[in-house]
Amino acid sequence: MNINIKTGTVEKEATEILIFYLYEDIKTISESLAYCNTALNDIVFKLIKDKEFIAKLNKTIILPTYGKIPAKRIMLVGMGMKKVATLDKIRQAAGTTVRAIRDIGITEGSAVMDSIDIPSLSSEWCQAYAEGALLALYKYQRYKYVPPDERQELKSLTLLFRDKEALMPARKAIQYGQIIADAVYFTRDLINTPAQDKTPTVLADAAKKLASEPHVQCKILSVPELKKLGMGGLLGVAQGSAQPPKFIILEYNARIKNQDTIVLVGKGITFDSGGICLKQAKDMDQMKSDMSGGAAVMGAIQAVSRMKLPQRVIGLIPSSENMPGGSAIKPGDIIKFYSGKTAEVANTDAEGRLILADALGYAAKYQPNAVIDLATLTGSCVVALGNVVTGMMGNNEELKKRVKIAGEKAWERIWELPLWEEYQEQIKSDIADMKNIGGPYAGAITAACFLSKFTEKYPWVHLDIAGTAWCDKDSAYIQKGASGVGVRLLVQLIQNWTRFS
Ligand code: BES
Ligand code: MN
Ligand code: ZN
Repeated sequence: MNINIKTGTVEKEATEILIFYLYEDIKTISESLAYCNTALNDIVFKLIKDKEFIAKLNKTIILPTYGKIPAKRIMLVGMGMKKVATLDKIRQAAGTTVRAIRDIGITEGSAVMDSIDIPSLSSEWCQAYAEGALLALYKYQRYKYVPPDERQELKSLTLLFRDKEALMPARKAIQYGQIIADAVYFTRDLINTPAQDKTPTVLADAAKKLASEPHVQCKILSVPELKKLGMGGLLGVAQGSAQPPKFIILEYNARIKNQDTIVLVGKGITFDSGGICLKQAKDMDQMKSDMSGGAAVMGAIQAVSRMKLPQRVIGLIPSSENMPGGSAIKPGDIIKFYSGKTAEVANTDAEGRLILADALGYAAKYQPNAVIDLATLTGSCVVALGNVVTGMMGNNEELKKRVKIAGEKAWERIWELPLWEEYQEQIKSDIADMKNIGGPYAGAITAACFLSKFTEKYPWVHLDIAGTAWCDKDSAYIQKGASGVGVRLLVQLIQNWTRFS
């Protein structure tokens, strides 16, 4: 879908559908809607009075105009209470709008932006609107035959402004919204792809393609190099699979001087069977999404490059399958990581931390100002926080604060769990530097304890996205399946970045 902007009035807007936004707690209607109301014999007032339309968030109604105004239909979209309006409600309302229009087979429409009526319809609001509209239309149909009559597509949405002054900031905002939505689409596509078609080699090829983006370079480390570097975690996890592991390195602004370096690390397990400690069959198919952290890092790098952000941003994605093949790693085995530390593999299903240990160790090489890792790391985090919020742990207050703020803005919210000394006890091993599982409780935290042994040299935040990367049902601008969580959060974080001390 194309998003266009222009100035104009509803009196002259010839379109298939003219869209207005209304608040539950605002009793007056905008000037432009008042015009339509009069032309349509007070229908809007009547609908509201008779409670046929209540402006609750994401409620809609569509009315034909029978030639009384140039637009063929008008649509009212509820925004909820204005006194609690947020950026995310704009995203949701925009998503609801485009889906409702698409689903009745209309290919084009105009949204009356003044009816959103935020005192200064700032670029932030406008970006949120574009994001919501674009993200809501995502569909994953690579393997599905879609009959012609189900291929309706909303081709263009025009944002109608009254004043010329609004156009410049709106143009930039929509451009950013488009870049971000493209990145989220890219990430969702990778995650939704079946494991058979996104082996570590395929993931590495997708990363190589990103090197065509401005100032992005890609390097792939394969088995011989991994052996040379001593990446025993990644090699160990890959042992049980027919597919060779890859270590993906993406560098944006690699040679820039006088800018902070931010390293993003993403878990890239393309399928997690559990290994010898095999998972149960129920929902195992969802484990194709165990590379969601890695896919989010790739999407974020695409976006920051297209947005030309000034920082140096490095993406590290250790990628492997976790399979129970004949040469698979066995419980009790001890592996040695890139950093030289050793771990006893008490459970082969706790594989994420093993590959991340190598990547986090490698991150130090860049002398980063900050390192953020994203991983579908523990079922325990899902038990603790559900699908609503991402779990956060880390070793630096300032960085945690920044991530939290970015999460609120992007509405990819995060909640901190404590990484207190007492928990470290649980991952002690008698025969190695540590073991890869703790006890039955606080599993999200003991997983982070394990990672913390490799992040002592720099400010670090770990995001456990096990609950948020995958959705079991549709919502206003996210559909069932991969959510693409992390992309918008990371972009927001870097967009707002100031020198880190
Ligand atoms: N990839 C899983 C975590 C996961 C679970 C992600 C559910 C998304 C949804 C991870 O590799 C795993 O298996 N973790 C184990 C760790 C345990 C063996 C200590 C878990 O959480 O059960
Ligand atoms: Mn696992
Ligand atoms: Zn896993």
